[in-house]
Amino acid sequence: MPDQPGAPLVLGIETSCDETGVALVRGGELLVDAVASSMDEHARFGGIIPEVASRAHLEAMIPTIERALGTAGVGLSEVDAIAVTAGPGLVGPLTIGASAAKALALGLGKPLYGVNHVIGHAAVDALVDGPFPERFMALVVSGGHSSLLLVDDIATKVTELGSTLDDAAGEAFDKVGRLLGLPYPGGPHIDRLAREGNPDAIRFPRGLTAAKDQEKHAYDFSFSGLKTAVARWVETKRDAGEEIPLPDVAASFAAAVADVLTAKTIAACHRHGVDTLVVGGGFSANSQLRDMAAERCAAEGITLRIPPIRYCTDNGAMIAALGSAVVAAGVAPSDLDIGVDSSMPLTTVTV
Ligand code: KG4
Ligand code: ZN
Repeated sequence: MPDQPGAPLVLGIETSCDETGVALVRGGELLVDAVASSMDEHARFGGIIPEVASRAHLEAMIPTIERALGTAGVGLSEVDAIAVTAGPGLVGPLTIGASAAKALALGLGKPLYGVNHVIGHAAVDALVDGPFPERFMALVVSGGHSSLLLVDDIATKVTELGSTLDDAAGEAFDKVGRLLGLPYPGGPHIDRLAREGNPDAIRFPRGLTAAKDQEKHAYDFSFSGLKTAVARWVETKRDAGEEIPLPDVAASFAAAVADVLTAKTIAACHRHGVDTLVVGGGFSANSQLRDMAAERCAAEGITLRIPPIRYCTDNGAMIAALGSAVVAAGVAPSDLDIGVDSSMPLTTVTV
């Protein structure tokens, strides 16, 4: 993305889950992206403990801000606006980030923008792949979200076409990982196993793809039935004293998830006459999704944009990128007394 020397310098702060992210963006250029993660402290619990994450954010916040400013060689006084994740996410962690952002905005006398985390996962792609086309589709998939968004303007007009009715894609991988006896988070382990297995070995169900689901849930996802099907299949084999062919189970399960995500997304692109797809969120690291999306988008004439994985997991760059877009669009700043919203609607870009 070209440097825009005169554009405002936006500091982005992300704390919706276990990553403390701080980044600086000017126009479409990323100056620095500093991240501290508390994942290691959660791994032994098999899931994110909000209280542990909150405390880690509190401890990491000032050092991460200082590291970001130091790396970019920028003084706090040069910052023109502060963007912060206002939701969705975990209330405690969100509150730590919002408090830090409000203190900075108040202290520096600069505007505050409370922005949407999920939309940030799409916004970050502009830092890597350049300005967005007029209209595009965004599939945001992670441990916490699986959402299909029609984006007319990343700063002002986002429509949620569908989302998961139960588990997020990464969450389903983590749950299946647990039942297969893999370490937490199971997603990357299943991915690795799946690469050695046969995706056609077992025909697992494709949630919400039946004709009866098309009226209400054409673009929604459901992975809990699939997870149960895998559990039943494994249980039956175990009861029969048979060995579980882990690579085949992983490959067949991963194929079912990638199939549903890509088929519904491409159908939505056709339905809305959109020829660009942005995929974001930590689950977009998944090889089976990447391969299937690349293959199907190429066959359908859809341009696929997936940022490098470090910008797909939670980070400050996504929030600074969305903040920069919001500032450029002339959106009014947020009030300093905004609250955080754990279930912030996906149509709200800025609070
Ligand atoms: O975006 P992220 O870092 O955190 C959330 O906001 O949730 O996403 C992490 C999720 C976890 O569920 C993890 O298991 C999954 O993404 N994940 C993967 C892969 N890498 C991460 N799932 C499948 N295949 C992968 N390669
Ligand atoms: Zn996320």
